[in-house]
Amino acid sequence: MASSIAFLAAAAFLFVTYYSSSAKASDFNKDFEITWGDGRAKIAENGQLLTLSLDRASGSGFQSRKEYLFGKIDMQLKLVPGNSAGTVTAYYLSSQGPSHDEIDFEFLGNLSGDPYTLHTNVFSQGKGNREQQFHLWFDPTMDFHTYSILWNPQRIIFSVDGTPIREFKNAESVGVAYPKKQPMRIYSSLWNADDWATRGGLVKTDWSQAPFTASYRSFNAADGDDWVNQELDSAGQERLKWVQSKYMIYNYCTDSKRFPQGFPPECTLN
Ligand SMILES: *[C@@H]1O[C@H](CO)[C@@H](O)[C@H](O)[C@H]1NC(C)=O
Repeated sequence: MASSIAFLAAAAFLFVTYYSSSAKASDFNKDFEITWGDGRAKIAENGQLLTLSLDRASGSGFQSRKEYLFGKIDMQLKLVPGNSAGTVTAYYLSSQGPSHDEIDFEFLGNLSGDPYTLHTNVFSQGKGNREQQFHLWFDPTMDFHTYSILWNPQRIIFSVDGTPIREFKNAESVGVAYPKKQPMRIYSSLWNADDWATRGGLVKTDWSQAPFTASYRSFNAADGDDWVNQELDSAGQERLKWVQSKYMIYNYCTDSKRFPQGFPPECTLN
């Protein structure tokens, strides 16, 4: 009897410690606020799920309550399914003010069956123009996938389901400003960009498919500081090369038409 009580107590203790560590997972009510969209953004399932929607009248968006100065931030997204042409789901970190820093993921919708484009950019002190674009190796509308930003003083690493797709290294040594002084919030929005998003604006949003919906869950901003010196190990570098060779569709660092006088200095490092 005593031993079975001790066993139950131990089991309960293990359960509680396990549960509390795995369930420190996001509560959207606590970590985020809906900022626009007049009811089109919704938090459901006790804070575990957030949805944004877009119709002809408006899109919607949210932002984090906290600001982050460096971080390792994961979010699961499930994108607008079907004919999502013309829609853009932006998920990014940004500081405020005129010479702001920004780290962007933008998902450009497409016709049913045609691939989404994942557009990335990094702004430092107001200067961006550092686009890299990718197709994905899965359909991002079928399930949730994890999109991560690791931002530390040496580098910014964009990852998808743990696979690094882009690294932006600190290139201050060659005179390039690096985001390291301005705290950033996390923002996301779903909006209509059919003047440019899909095939350069040729394919328009089909409003008969509205409302369009994107979903979010499992936000996590890492505690501690394991990631402060994190870099890609050799396996990570191999994965990065694999993605870039197979799935990258645009890289500003190889666009010689755009930079006839020579590539931006960070391109020698990245
Ligand atoms: C849409 O699909 C076309 C055809 O596969 C592709 O070239 C394009 O990159 C896709 N994405 C966008 C946003 O146009």
